[in-house]
Amino acid sequence: MPAFPWDSLAKHTAVAKEHPDGVVDLSVGTPVDPVPATLQEALSAAAEAPGYPATHGTPELRAAAVAALERRYGVTGVQPDAVLPTIGSKELVAWLPTLLGVRPGEVVAIPELAYPTYEVGAKLVGAEVVRLAPGQAPPAGTALVWLNSPSNPTGRVLDAQQLRESVQAAREVGAIVASDECYLSLGWEAEPVSVLHPAVTDDPTGVLAVHSLSKSSNLAGYRAGFITGDPVLVRRLLELRKHAGMIVPRPVQVAMTAALEDDEHVRAQRELYAQRRAVLRPALEDAGFRIEHSQAGLYLWATRGEDAWQTLDWLAQRGILVAPGTFYGPGGAQHVRISLTASDERITAAAKRLVS
Ligand SMILES: Cc1ncc(COP(=O)(O)O)c(C=O)c1O
Repeated sequence: MPAFPWDSLAKHTAVAKEHPDGVVDLSVGTPVDPVPATLQEALSAAAEAPGYPATHGTPELRAAAVAALERRYGVTGVQPDAVLPTIGSKELVAWLPTLLGVRPGEVVAIPELAYPTYEVGAKLVGAEVVRLAPGQAPPAGTALVWLNSPSNPTGRVLDAQQLRESVQAAREVGAIVASDECYLSLGWEAEPVSVLHPAVTDDPTGVLAVHSLSKSSNLAGYRAGFITGDPVLVRRLLELRKHAGMIVPRPVQVAMTAALEDDEHVRAQRELYAQRRAVLRPALEDAGFRIEHSQAGLYLWATRGEDAWQTLDWLAQRGILVAPGTFYGPGGAQHVRISLTASDERITAAAKRLVS
């Protein structure tokens, strides 16, 4: 396994913490706003839960996921049985190659710049990792292709045609497509599309969509996600997860149901991020940063045309902590990922420090 990347930020954290007005930590994408009150209430109301929960989730949860996919993202035709709750999406990302039976030596294709857990999952089965530039076809021998739009870290969005071509290219080599859609509700200058949207494919065979409520509903602390798509694959995942005890706790299932039945809190949270982005982005540009991609999602992908660690030094001296692009792949050597997940007060403080 690679070293846990965040541990390498200790020196910059120490420098940033010395700032007289405190550190502004924009290095991790963890939600800071409250869990919506209605979701807290749904969780508490389900606290009396002595029995084992169903691995497949309650029928209400699966129906709520199907309805939310249609209402929010225009995804039609998903059968409730083809929805499977997950304990957040990170565990699913890490274990998907194992659960799908990817074999040692087969290829897991991941985006050129990618959330590190795709690689971790491939390593857990001894698969070879191949990084694909946008539009690049996976090689023969690929068992699984990860897509991630909007992307962490770049905020790049793949449109319906690009997604269609990616699915087609994966099918040509017999690979399963897993589309990580945890930032789908956060489109700014582009409208993100689900891989299950009819404009991408009308046949979910070999296609999976991974969803998370962590960012859209501020439920990172509850560990709440689900996977859907190909009913045959989802059934296989369900059987294995039943055996392995990979079960979402019942009170969390109830809170997830409430979250998926309501769009207002998603809209309100999205608005908070939009405002923070509107403060931070121009301040970074005024300070000489170039922002690339970043049309959607929770991050600004920024460069000063220098080594990422130099940029980290420069920002740490101003009490601002960000993530170096190298955490996401060698192609990120001159970029940093700046998260929008800080309070309004901290984002404003960062913007002031950048321009002073
Ligand atoms: C691209 C991507 N996928 C998955 C996750 C995992 O999120 P969670 O486990 O909270 O659902 C993250 C978290 O930041 C992410 O950025």
